[in-house]
Amino acid sequence: MSMTHPRTGRPRERVLTMHGIGKRFGAVRALTDVDFWVNEGEVVALVGDNGAGKSTLVKVLAGVHPPDAGTIEFDGEPVEIDSPADAQDLGIETIFQDLALCDNLDVVANLWLGRELRDGATLDEVDMEQRTWTLLRELSAKIPSVRVPVASLSGGQRQTVAIARSLIGEPRVVILDEPTAALGVAQTAEVLNLIERLRERGHGVILISHNMADVLAVADRVVVLRLGRNNGVYNVADVTSETLIAAITGAVDHSGARWTASGATPPAAAAPGAPATPARPGRVRPPGPAVADPAAADPAAADPAAADEAPLDEDTGGTVIRMPSTGSRRRPREDGRR
Ligand SMILES: Nc1ncnc2c1ncn2[C@@H]1O[C@H](COP(=O)(O)OP(=O)(O)OP(=O)(O)O)[C@@H](O)[C@H]1O
Ligand SMILES: [Mg+2]
Repeated sequence: MSMTHPRTGRPRERVLTMHGIGKRFGAVRALTDVDFWVNEGEVVALVGDNGAGKSTLVKVLAGVHPPDAGTIEFDGEPVEIDSPADAQDLGIETIFQDLALCDNLDVVANLWLGRELRDGATLDEVDMEQRTWTLLRELSAKIPSVRVPVASLSGGQRQTVAIARSLIGEPRVVILDEPTAALGVAQTAEVLNLIERLRERGHGVILISHNMADVLAVADRVVVLRLGRNNGVYNVADVTSETLIAAITGAVDHSGARWTASGATPPAAAAPGAPATPARPGRVRPPGPAVADPAAADPAAADPAAADEAPLDEDTGGTVIRMPSTGSRRRPREDGRR
Protein backbone atom coordinates (compact mmCIF):
# COMPACT_ATOMS: atom_id res chain seq x y z
CA MET A 1 0.00 0.00 0.00
CA SER A 2 1.64 3.24 -0.99
CA MET A 3 1.12 6.96 -0.68
CA THR A 4 3.18 9.93 -1.66
CA HIS A 5 5.70 11.58 0.58
CA PRO A 6 4.72 15.26 0.76
CA ARG A 7 8.31 16.42 0.47
CA THR A 8 10.00 14.05 -1.95
CA GLY A 9 6.92 13.06 -3.95
CA ARG A 10 8.19 9.48 -3.79
CA PRO A 11 5.84 6.66 -2.94
CA ARG A 12 5.73 6.01 0.77
CA GLU A 13 4.84 2.64 2.14
CA ARG A 14 2.87 1.71 5.21
CA VAL A 15 5.20 0.02 7.66
CA LEU A 16 3.04 -0.74 10.64
CA THR A 17 -0.66 -0.96 11.41
CA MET A 18 -2.19 -1.69 14.82
CA HIS A 19 -5.87 -2.39 14.96
CA GLY A 20 -8.22 -2.74 17.93
CA ILE A 21 -5.40 -3.06 20.46
CA GLY A 22 -6.47 -3.81 24.04
CA LYS A 23 -4.32 -4.20 27.12
CA ARG A 24 -5.34 -4.70 30.73
CA PHE A 25 -3.25 -4.68 33.86
CA GLY A 26 -5.53 -6.45 36.34
CA ALA A 27 -8.53 -4.18 36.70
CA VAL A 28 -6.88 -1.32 34.82
CA ARG A 29 -7.78 -1.06 31.15
CA ALA A 30 -4.65 0.66 29.88
CA LEU A 31 -5.69 0.39 26.20
CA THR A 32 -9.10 -0.19 24.67
CA ASP A 33 -9.64 -0.76 20.94
CA VAL A 34 -6.73 1.45 19.88
CA ASP A 35 -5.84 1.91 16.21
CA PHE A 36 -2.50 3.30 15.14
CA TRP A 37 -0.32 3.29 12.04
CA VAL A 38 2.94 4.66 10.75
CA ASN A 39 4.39 4.99 7.26
CA GLU A 40 8.02 5.04 6.24
CA GLY A 41 9.52 8.52 6.29
CA GLU A 42 6.77 9.75 8.61
CA VAL A 43 6.98 11.19 12.11
CA VAL A 44 3.87 10.35 14.14
CA ALA A 45 3.52 12.05 17.50
CA LEU A 46 1.67 10.11 20.17
CA VAL A 47 0.21 12.48 22.72
CA GLY A 48 -2.08 12.27 25.73
CA ASP A 49 -2.36 13.05 29.39
CA ASN A 50 -0.52 11.08 32.09
CA GLY A 51 -1.85 7.55 32.13
CA ALA A 52 -3.44 7.87 28.67
CA GLY A 53 -1.70 4.70 27.53
CA LYS A 54 1.11 6.07 25.35
CA SER A 55 3.93 4.09 26.92
CA THR A 56 1.79 0.98 27.07
CA LEU A 57 1.04 1.27 23.34
CA VAL A 58 4.71 1.57 22.40
CA LYS A 59 5.59 -1.23 24.82
CA VAL A 60 3.17 -3.42 22.87
CA LEU A 61 5.24 -2.59 19.78
CA ALA A 62 8.49 -3.11 21.65
CA GLY A 63 7.45 -6.60 22.72
CA VAL A 64 7.38 -5.66 26.40
CA HIS A 65 3.60 -6.07 26.83
CA PRO A 66 1.92 -8.48 24.42
CA PRO A 67 -1.61 -7.14 23.77
CA ASP A 68 -4.75 -8.91 25.04
CA ALA A 69 -6.71 -7.95 21.94
CA GLY A 70 -6.20 -6.61 18.44
CA THR A 71 -3.91 -7.22 15.51
CA ILE A 72 -0.58 -5.86 14.32
CA GLU A 73 0.56 -5.83 10.70
CA PHE A 74 4.13 -5.19 9.67
CA ASP A 75 4.80 -4.62 5.96
CA GLY A 76 1.26 -5.81 5.33
CA GLU A 77 1.75 -9.15 7.11
CA PRO A 78 0.10 -10.05 10.42
CA VAL A 79 2.72 -10.42 13.13
CA GLU A 80 2.91 -11.25 16.83
CA ILE A 81 5.41 -9.35 18.90
CA ASP A 82 5.90 -11.51 21.97
CA SER A 83 9.31 -10.31 23.10
CA PRO A 84 11.77 -7.46 22.64
CA ALA A 85 13.77 -9.81 20.38
CA ASP A 86 10.70 -10.22 18.13
CA ALA A 87 10.41 -6.43 17.87
CA GLN A 88 14.07 -6.05 17.03
CA ASP A 89 13.91 -8.83 14.43
CA LEU A 90 11.06 -7.02 12.70
CA GLY A 91 13.00 -3.76 12.74
CA ILE A 92 11.32 -1.89 15.60
CA GLU A 93 13.76 -0.04 17.89
CA THR A 94 12.63 1.77 21.02
CA ILE A 95 14.57 4.43 22.86
CA PHE A 96 13.13 4.51 26.35
CA GLN A 97 13.50 7.56 28.50
CA ASP A 98 16.34 6.14 30.60
CA LEU A 99 18.34 5.58 27.36
CA ALA A 100 20.06 2.52 28.86
CA LEU A 101 23.56 3.63 27.91
CA CYS A 102 26.69 2.27 29.56
CA ASP A 103 28.14 5.38 31.15
CA ASN A 104 31.67 4.12 31.53
CA LEU A 105 31.99 3.01 27.90
CA ASP A 106 32.80 5.38 25.05
CA VAL A 107 30.48 6.32 22.19
CA VAL A 108 31.80 3.65 19.81
CA ALA A 109 31.48 0.90 22.41
CA ASN A 110 27.91 1.98 23.24
CA LEU A 111 26.87 1.99 19.59
CA TRP A 112 28.20 -1.48 18.86
CA LEU A 113 27.55 -3.15 22.22
CA GLY A 114 26.43 -6.72 21.53
CA ARG A 115 26.92 -6.25 17.79
CA GLU A 116 30.67 -5.65 17.71
CA LEU A 117 32.46 -5.90 14.39
CA ARG A 118 35.36 -8.35 14.42
CA ASP A 119 38.49 -8.80 12.41
CA GLY A 120 39.27 -12.42 13.06
CA ALA A 121 39.45 -12.92 16.80
CA THR A 122 39.89 -9.23 17.66
CA LEU A 123 37.45 -6.36 17.62
CA ASP A 124 37.70 -4.18 14.53
CA GLU A 125 37.92 -0.90 16.41
CA VAL A 126 38.94 1.10 13.34
CA ASP A 127 35.96 -0.03 11.29
CA MET A 128 33.54 0.53 14.19
CA GLU A 129 34.94 4.01 14.78
CA GLN A 130 34.72 4.93 11.10
CA ARG A 131 31.16 3.69 10.81
CA THR A 132 30.26 5.56 13.99
CA TRP A 133 31.54 8.80 12.48
CA THR A 134 29.72 8.11 9.22
CA LEU A 135 26.45 7.58 11.06
CA LEU A 136 26.91 10.64 13.29
CA ARG A 137 27.71 12.79 10.24
CA GLU A 138 24.62 11.49 8.48
CA LEU A 139 22.62 12.56 11.52
CA SER A 140 24.42 15.94 11.61
CA ALA A 141 25.14 15.04 15.22
CA LYS A 142 27.31 17.27 17.34
CA ILE A 143 29.55 14.86 19.24
CA PRO A 144 33.09 16.17 19.76
CA SER A 145 34.76 12.80 20.25
CA VAL A 146 33.61 9.21 19.94
CA ARG A 147 36.33 8.03 22.32
CA VAL A 148 35.02 9.69 25.49
CA PRO A 149 32.85 7.89 28.05
CA VAL A 150 29.22 8.76 27.46
CA ALA A 151 29.00 9.87 31.11
CA SER A 152 30.88 13.02 30.06
CA LEU A 153 28.35 13.97 27.36
CA SER A 154 25.44 16.40 27.66
CA GLY A 155 21.85 15.19 27.84
CA GLY A 156 21.27 15.99 24.16
CA GLN A 157 24.46 14.23 23.13
CA ARG A 158 23.50 11.16 25.14
CA GLN A 159 20.12 11.15 23.42
CA THR A 160 22.00 11.35 20.11
CA VAL A 161 24.14 8.36 21.04
CA ALA A 162 21.04 6.37 22.02
CA ILE A 163 19.36 7.24 18.72
CA ALA A 164 22.50 6.43 16.70
CA ARG A 165 22.78 3.11 18.51
CA SER A 166 19.20 2.25 17.59
CA LEU A 167 20.07 2.73 13.90
CA ILE A 168 22.88 0.17 13.76
CA GLY A 169 20.47 -2.58 12.71
CA GLU A 170 18.75 -0.30 10.13
CA PRO A 171 15.31 -0.49 11.77
CA ARG A 172 12.13 0.39 9.88
CA VAL A 173 10.49 2.01 12.91
CA VAL A 174 12.16 4.07 15.63
CA ILE A 175 10.19 4.87 18.79
CA LEU A 176 11.23 7.72 21.07
CA ASP A 177 9.56 8.02 24.48
CA GLU A 178 9.82 11.65 25.67
CA PRO A 179 13.24 12.31 24.10
CA THR A 180 13.32 16.01 24.98
CA ALA A 181 11.71 15.89 28.44
CA ALA A 182 14.95 16.52 30.32
CA LEU A 183 16.64 18.79 27.79
CA GLY A 184 17.26 22.53 27.51
CA VAL A 185 16.36 24.66 24.51
CA ALA A 186 19.48 24.12 22.40
CA GLN A 187 19.65 20.42 23.10
CA THR A 188 15.96 20.04 22.31
CA ALA A 189 16.55 21.70 18.93
CA GLU A 190 19.38 19.25 18.29
CA VAL A 191 17.18 16.26 19.03
CA LEU A 192 14.38 17.66 16.85
CA ASN A 193 16.89 18.02 14.01
CA LEU A 194 17.90 14.45 14.57
CA ILE A 195 14.28 13.34 14.27
CA GLU A 196 14.09 15.13 10.92
CA ARG A 197 17.19 13.23 9.79
CA LEU A 198 15.46 9.97 10.79
CA ARG A 199 12.51 10.90 8.60
CA GLU A 200 14.84 11.71 5.69
CA ARG A 201 16.49 8.32 6.06
CA GLY A 202 13.03 6.80 5.59
CA HIS A 203 12.46 5.45 9.08
CA GLY A 204 8.95 5.55 10.46
CA VAL A 205 9.27 7.55 13.68
CA ILE A 206 6.93 7.41 16.68
CA LEU A 207 7.47 10.31 19.06
CA ILE A 208 5.86 10.41 22.49
CA SER A 209 5.84 13.95 23.83
CA HIS A 210 4.02 16.26 26.22
CA ASN A 211 5.54 19.27 24.49
CA MET A 212 3.14 20.67 21.90
CA ALA A 213 5.82 22.95 20.43
CA ASP A 214 8.05 19.96 19.74
CA VAL A 215 5.16 17.99 18.31
CA LEU A 216 4.09 20.79 15.98
CA ALA A 217 7.69 21.46 14.95
CA VAL A 218 8.63 17.99 13.91
CA ALA A 219 5.66 15.64 13.46
CA ASP A 220 3.69 14.96 10.29
CA ARG A 221 0.71 13.49 12.10
CA VAL A 222 -0.52 13.49 15.69
CA VAL A 223 -2.42 10.67 17.35
CA VAL A 224 -4.22 11.57 20.57
CA LEU A 225 -4.91 8.98 23.24
CA ARG A 226 -7.23 9.68 26.12
CA LEU A 227 -8.03 7.23 28.92
CA GLY A 228 -6.60 4.42 26.84
CA ARG A 229 -8.65 5.14 23.71
CA ASN A 230 -8.10 7.00 20.45
CA ASN A 231 -9.30 10.58 20.72
CA GLY A 232 -8.26 12.13 17.41
CA VAL A 233 -5.81 11.90 14.51
CA TYR A 234 -4.59 15.15 12.98
CA ASN A 235 -2.29 16.24 10.20
CA VAL A 236 0.08 18.68 11.82
CA ALA A 237 -0.03 21.12 8.91
CA ASP A 238 -3.57 22.09 9.84
CA VAL A 239 -3.87 21.62 13.56
CA THR A 240 -3.28 24.07 16.39
CA SER A 241 -2.00 23.31 19.85
CA GLU A 242 -5.38 24.46 21.18
CA THR A 243 -7.17 21.76 19.20
CA LEU A 244 -4.68 19.15 20.35
CA ILE A 245 -5.07 20.17 23.96
CA ALA A 246 -8.85 20.02 23.66
CA ALA A 247 -8.51 16.43 22.44
CA ILE A 248 -5.93 15.56 25.10
CA THR A 249 -7.99 16.95 27.98
CA GLY A 250 -11.30 15.63 26.74
CA ALA A 251 -12.82 19.02 25.92
CA VAL A 252 -13.62 17.26 22.65
CA ASP A 253 -14.59 13.62 22.65
CA HIS A 254 -13.75 11.56 19.58
CA SER A 255 -13.55 8.31 21.44
CA GLY A 256 -16.71 6.88 19.86
CA ALA A 257 -15.33 7.36 16.36
CA ARG A 258 -13.83 4.55 14.36
CA TRP A 259 -10.31 5.06 13.15
CA THR A 260 -9.63 2.41 10.59
CA ALA A 261 -11.02 1.03 7.40
CA SER A 262 -12.86 -1.65 9.33
CA GLY A 263 -15.12 0.97 10.88
CA ALA A 264 -18.37 2.24 9.43
CA THR A 265 -17.56 4.51 6.48
CA PRO A 266 -14.41 6.07 7.82
CA PRO A 267 -13.25 9.29 6.21
CA ALA A 268 -10.77 8.61 3.43
CA ALA A 269 -8.06 10.69 5.03
CA ALA A 270 -8.26 8.93 8.37
CA ALA A 271 -8.29 5.40 6.99
CA PRO A 272 -4.98 3.62 7.33
CA GLY A 273 -4.90 2.81 3.65
CA ALA A 274 -5.45 6.39 2.60
CA PRO A 275 -2.97 9.21 2.20
CA ALA A 276 -2.24 10.75 5.56
CA THR A 277 -1.41 13.98 3.81
CA PRO A 278 -3.68 14.92 0.94
CA ALA A 279 -2.45 17.34 -1.74
CA ARG A 280 -3.60 20.27 0.38
CA PRO A 281 -3.38 18.65 3.76
CA GLY A 282 -6.61 18.81 5.68
CA ARG A 283 -7.22 17.96 9.26
CA VAL A 284 -7.83 14.26 9.51
CA ARG A 285 -11.27 13.92 10.94
CA PRO A 286 -12.98 10.93 12.38
CA PRO A 287 -16.52 10.28 11.16
CA GLY A 288 -19.68 11.17 13.03
CA PRO A 289 -21.27 14.26 14.46
CA ALA A 290 -18.68 14.77 17.20
CA VAL A 291 -16.09 15.87 14.73
CA ALA A 292 -17.60 18.70 12.72
CA ASP A 293 -14.92 20.94 14.09
CA PRO A 294 -13.18 20.01 17.30
CA ALA A 295 -12.54 23.66 18.06
CA ALA A 296 -16.23 24.48 17.74
CA ALA A 297 -17.08 22.07 20.51
CA ASP A 298 -15.30 24.18 23.04
CA PRO A 299 -15.20 27.96 23.04
CA ALA A 300 -11.86 27.98 24.84
CA ALA A 301 -10.44 25.69 22.21
CA ALA A 302 -11.78 27.92 19.46
CA ASP A 303 -10.17 30.97 20.97
CA PRO A 304 -6.40 30.58 20.98
CA ALA A 305 -5.98 33.47 23.37
CA ALA A 306 -8.38 31.95 25.89
CA ALA A 307 -6.66 28.58 25.63
CA ASP A 308 -3.25 30.19 25.92
CA GLU A 309 -4.29 31.81 29.15
CA ALA A 310 -5.91 28.71 30.59
CA PRO A 311 -4.21 27.18 33.62
CA LEU A 312 -3.00 24.17 31.71
CA ASP A 313 -1.82 22.10 34.61
CA GLU A 314 -5.25 22.32 36.25
CA ASP A 315 -7.01 21.55 32.99
CA THR A 316 -4.95 18.48 32.47
CA GLY A 317 -5.20 17.12 35.95
CA GLY A 318 -1.64 17.88 36.84
CA THR A 319 0.24 17.29 33.59
CA VAL A 320 2.00 20.36 32.40
CA ILE A 321 1.50 20.26 28.66
CA ARG A 322 3.95 22.78 27.34
CA MET A 323 2.57 25.16 24.74
CA PRO A 324 4.52 27.05 22.11
CA SER A 325 5.41 30.38 23.70
CA THR A 326 4.52 32.48 20.66
CA GLY A 327 1.69 32.65 18.17
CA SER A 328 3.83 30.98 15.54
CA ARG A 329 3.53 27.30 16.14
CA ARG A 330 5.95 25.86 13.64
CA ARG A 331 9.56 26.56 13.21
CA PRO A 332 10.59 26.69 9.55
CA ARG A 333 11.70 23.35 8.29
CA GLU A 334 15.23 23.14 7.01
CA ASP A 335 14.02 21.41 3.90
CA GLY A 336 11.62 24.22 3.10
CA ARG A 337 8.58 22.07 3.71
CA ARG A 338 5.92 23.81 5.72
N1 LIG B 1 3.03 -2.52 34.36
C1 LIG B 1 1.86 -1.98 34.73
N2 LIG B 1 1.11 -2.52 35.71
C2 LIG B 1 -0.08 -1.99 36.07
N3 LIG B 1 -0.61 -0.89 35.51
C3 LIG B 1 0.08 -0.29 34.54
C4 LIG B 1 1.35 -0.79 34.10
N4 LIG B 1 1.82 0.02 33.11
C5 LIG B 1 0.89 0.96 32.94
N5 LIG B 1 -0.16 0.78 33.80
C6 LIG B 1 -1.37 1.62 33.87
O1 LIG B 1 -1.87 1.76 32.55
C7 LIG B 1 -2.34 3.08 32.33
C8 LIG B 1 -1.59 3.69 31.16
O2 LIG B 1 -0.25 3.93 31.54
P1 LIG B 1 0.89 4.45 30.56
O3 LIG B 1 2.15 4.38 31.30
O4 LIG B 1 0.79 3.72 29.29
O5 LIG B 1 0.46 5.97 30.32
P2 LIG B 1 1.24 7.14 29.60
O6 LIG B 1 0.30 7.72 28.62
O7 LIG B 1 2.54 6.65 29.11
O8 LIG B 1 1.44 8.19 30.79
P3 LIG B 1 2.67 9.19 31.12
O9 LIG B 1 2.43 10.41 30.29
O10 LIG B 1 2.47 9.48 32.56
O11 LIG B 1 3.95 8.49 30.81
C9 LIG B 1 -2.15 3.82 33.63
O12 LIG B 1 -3.36 3.76 34.33
C10 LIG B 1 -1.08 3.03 34.33
O13 LIG B 1 -1.19 3.15 35.72
MG1 LIG C 1 4.54 7.10 29.57
